[in-house]
Amino acid sequence: MLTDFKMKTRIGKDIGYAKSLLESGDICAIPTETVYGLAANALDSEAVVKIFEAKNRPRFDPLIVHVPSIQKIGDYVTEIPEWAGKLAGHFMPGPLTLLLEKKDIIPDIVTSGLPTVALRIPSHPLTLELLNELNFPLAAPSANPFGYISPTSAQHVYDQLAGKIPYILDGGDCSIGIESTIVGESGGKPVILRLGGISAEDIWGVIGKCEIQIHSSSNPVNPGNLEHHYAPRHKLIFDSMNFDGYDRNKIGIISFQKEYPGIPLEHQQILSHTGNLGEAAQKIFSAMRALDSKEIRVIFAERFPDEGLGRAINDRLKRASTQNTVL
Ligand code: TXA
Ligand code: MG
Repeated sequence: MLTDFKMKTRIGKDIGYAKSLLESGDICAIPTETVYGLAANALDSEAVVKIFEAKNRPRFDPLIVHVPSIQKIGDYVTEIPEWAGKLAGHFMPGPLTLLLEKKDIIPDIVTSGLPTVALRIPSHPLTLELLNELNFPLAAPSANPFGYISPTSAQHVYDQLAGKIPYILDGGDCSIGIESTIVGESGGKPVILRLGGISAEDIWGVIGKCEIQIHSSSNPVNPGNLEHHYAPRHKLIFDSMNFDGYDRNKIGIISFQKEYPGIPLEHQQILSHTGNLGEAAQKIFSAMRALDSKEIRVIFAERFPDEGLGRAINDRLKRASTQNTVL
């Protein structure tokens, strides 16, 4: 294989073409309601390796497997505990991922050798149609280079992965805009392992209150929670809006509702004038990207209310703030 070879990356709505790529063991970016994914046949280790290579993703970070229906989940897990069945009934298809004990048919590369597999049914019509037409599930992490901001439009994927993947199935802007909520089990009880597009309160409303166990170390059980993640190139300061010592023309702002006087308006990303956390979640990653393209020195991000989708937004901003190197 030629190492310098850059493949041509196309963007389109051709499900048949996406299907043929995936069936021949290739990779393809797909839209979901949360963020775009970079997909391959989850049962084909060689195809899955291409995902890791295109993303530059370490092999210890396992992938989510996407299926078209709750019935199909049973094909890949040894058991569906009661709490998982309840959550599936309420939130699937949707921004929920269940972490359950896997059957052997799921290759080790997908789960990084872990005994569990993460499963999700995306609620995007194009991708659901694609999944229904395939006779295998799709492993798909977010379609961004490892560590960078997740993509919420086909153009975002193109901006980062052009030349490395053959096709981006264009399903428009993601309606949720933040990754799925991951629920797994610890000590026989359900636990929330990643905050995401379904709020903790909504999960609790169905299965009762459970713990939120967010790990952030360099080798966590749930590596989507790596401390340095979702990071823009510019330095991001979270939860302090003290601009002393900074040139105000070189500051970017991520704010929930309000405008900051004295800072150029084109450097301000105000995520919801009406204070709607769903709207703010939908815009958070594209706001980070927009500021990343500006000639600024630093991004200041407010802390959002610690409730509902605000928790997931704060989680992403906190992680984005811990890595300030240029990727
Ligand atoms: O909304 C989403 O979940 C998106 C869309 C594309 O579906 N996907 C996504 O994938 O966010 P990714 O790879 O960026 O994050 C998935 C995380 C992994 O980093 C890992 O932490 C966790 O899910 N995960 C996957 N399989 C796991 C496993 N077997 N055990 C523990 N954690 C797992
Ligand atoms: Mg990701």
